[in-house]
Amino acid sequence: MKILLIGSGGREHALAWRLKQNPAVELFSAPGSSALAKLGQIRPAAIGDVAALTAVAEDLRPDLTVIGPELPLSLGLADALRSKGLAVFGPSAAAAEIECSKIFAKDFMVRHNLPTASYAVFYDHQEARQYLKHSSYPAVVKADGLAGGKGVIICGQHRQALAAIDALAPIPAAERLIIEEYLAGDEISFFALADGRTAIPFGSAQDHKAVHDYDRGPNTGGMGACSPSPLVTPALEKTIMDEIIRPAIEGLAIEGRPYCGLLYAGLVRTLNGLKILEFNARFGDPETQAVLPRFKGDLAEVMMAAAQGRLEQVSPTWDPRPAVCVVMSAEGYPGPSRQGDAIAGLEQAAARPDVEIFEAGVTREVRQGAEIPVTSGGRVLAVSALGDNMPDAVQKAYEAVSLISFEGAHYRRDIAAKAAKQAMR
Ligand SMILES: Nc1ncnc2c1ncn2[C@@H]1O[C@H](COP(=O)(O)OP(=O)(O)O)[C@@H](O)[C@H]1O
Ligand SMILES: [Mg+2]
Repeated sequence: MKILLIGSGGREHALAWRLKQNPAVELFSAPGSSALAKLGQIRPAAIGDVAALTAVAEDLRPDLTVIGPELPLSLGLADALRSKGLAVFGPSAAAAEIECSKIFAKDFMVRHNLPTASYAVFYDHQEARQYLKHSSYPAVVKADGLAGGKGVIICGQHRQALAAIDALAPIPAAERLIIEEYLAGDEISFFALADGRTAIPFGSAQDHKAVHDYDRGPNTGGMGACSPSPLVTPALEKTIMDEIIRPAIEGLAIEGRPYCGLLYAGLVRTLNGLKILEFNARFGDPETQAVLPRFKGDLAEVMMAAAQGRLEQVSPTWDPRPAVCVVMSAEGYPGPSRQGDAIAGLEQAAARPDVEIFEAGVTREVRQGAEIPVTSGGRVLAVSALGDNMPDAVQKAYEAVSLISFEGAHYRRDIAAKAAKQAMR
């Protein structure tokens, strides 16, 4: 089975690693990375260039194309490939609007009675400023469009909210704004596969967004995750599927935007029940690096079933052991970060039992006659480990992390600490 994987990050490395466990899979990636080049051929094409990516796919004629990141989904890559008769895992631009426009997503949730924070929409920043005078606090100011995790600001008081609008103003995604009610409670990341009509659960995770321990410092793309989320009992999984995921998939189908791919629901468990923070139209990064080590089936077959509209035939099986993933980032991240530092210890860490290393910002360079891994991005890599229980997974992940070093390396020391404590109760 020939598979083309679109993307180049840690999420795509984890997807490729799992896909390749089916020995019949011949993998290609675009644009790929040095890690993906070890798992198959890579083809150059910018991630935002739909024409170039489509040309790669037309040349390869893969049995399946798997689209990792949101940008090419938002630009209609899945539509372009389907129009060429290719099978695709990933939603159309119309279905991906559930992630790519927060205004569409909120209005959609209201149309289909899905539980979410109350909100107001603004096409004009001046009107948003007026509204803030009488808003209750904390309030959350959000850019409508894709902002790479930089479009949401939680504001304790009026002054901060005005400053938030100023801070968002230069971002094109913030031309339109949402101001919404603040929801207090623990967050859950929940994943489901959908084929347009049928949806099945595909794991859960707890993310760690802030750059420093105890959730301090600015938000990042994610500094680590554990899976499953300790809050997701079998009963809660059923509630989430029945009350959130299936109605969302049905609603999208009814509105003529059938959803095929992975639907990611960001949820909060509040005192008034579960509420939806947002939907994402693709696998989370780094949640995927914690979810996929637990997945025991044939990912290629499952994704193909989703692409071909026969998910009802699939029932994924999972390793009962939990997984923890710890991100190692470069100095400066989430701001402009150091690059080009040699990375030591990757092989020793990867050789530990139940440990996988997923590379994000790593490239290979020849230095003094030898090819070595060097840092090339803010989030450099993720170390994932399975354990007999959450504390064991945490210990295994951090033991492997301690074997890896590069100048300016940073990682949180408290990934899954809360989940490990809950597990011991
Ligand atoms: N209404 C809200 N109440 C409390 N926290 C929120 C709210 N909306 C967003 N957040 C926080 O901000 C983070 C990012 O918001 P989200 O809507 O997921 O946007 P994005 O992932 O696109 O940046 C969430 O994970 C959550 O921690
Ligand atoms: Mg989010």
